[in-house]
Amino acid sequence: MSRKLMIAGNWKLHLTVEEAVSLAGGIASGLAREDLDVLVIPGFLALEPVALSLSSSPVLVGGQNIFWEDQGAFTGEVSGPQLKAAGARYALVGHSERRQYFGETEKTCNLRLNAALRAGLRPILCVGETQSEREADQTEGVLESQLAGGLAGLQAGQMELVTIAYEPVWAIGTGLTATEEQAAQAHAYLRGWIEARFDKGVANSTRILYGGSVNPANAAGLLNQPEVDGALVGGASLKADSFLGIIQAA
Ligand code: PGA
Repeated sequence: MSRKLMIAGNWKLHLTVEEAVSLAGGIASGLAREDLDVLVIPGFLALEPVALSLSSSPVLVGGQNIFWEDQGAFTGEVSGPQLKAAGARYALVGHSERRQYFGETEKTCNLRLNAALRAGLRPILCVGETQSEREADQTEGVLESQLAGGLAGLQAGQMELVTIAYEPVWAIGTGLTATEEQAAQAHAYLRGWIEARFDKGVANSTRILYGGSVNPANAAGLLNQPEVDGALVGGASLKADSFLGIIQAA
């Protein structure tokens, strides 16, 4: 089964609203591909202005996080209905920086993922091992517990709306990239796990992105791996030229 590639740019805690709208404009005007999905993930303040500025472009918009309640006395949080109304179509769940610095657990990832589905957003569940976990040969065990926890209770029909992003923590923002073989191996493991937990049809249709220091020079080799269905890009998504370079290489 062929899966549509996705190139997603996670802008993290970068760019003012004005800068974000300008970057979105540069990406939209330079985009020369219609055969893949392009997603930008600005900070919350810029999300709606970016979505409005992209309304006549195929570039999609997503949130970097999502709270698990839809409304209430939860100061500082952003909900699924708010993201949806602001123009988001996707939401990241469990990015390693959330896990590392903000106490994200399998349980909270699962709650956030369900909140995204409830709001009609497509969650992108991020998973990946740290350097020490890889060195201790625990990569598959870590991926297994992140998938089992994050996807707990999900039905096959819901899983069809979920994207997985494999992001080895040691490759994020470090300039170190997983080798093509390491990425291929991890993606094959993830797809096999999804098949065992759901079924072959779900496994074949689930998009699994690779993330971790993807740039225009290494994108083609990584995206050439049959199990790699796109890229989640941080640093190299902050300039239209380099993000478009990755899209062109795909
Ligand atoms: P990076 O970030 O491309 O800067 O390594 C990837 C990510 O965190 O999604």
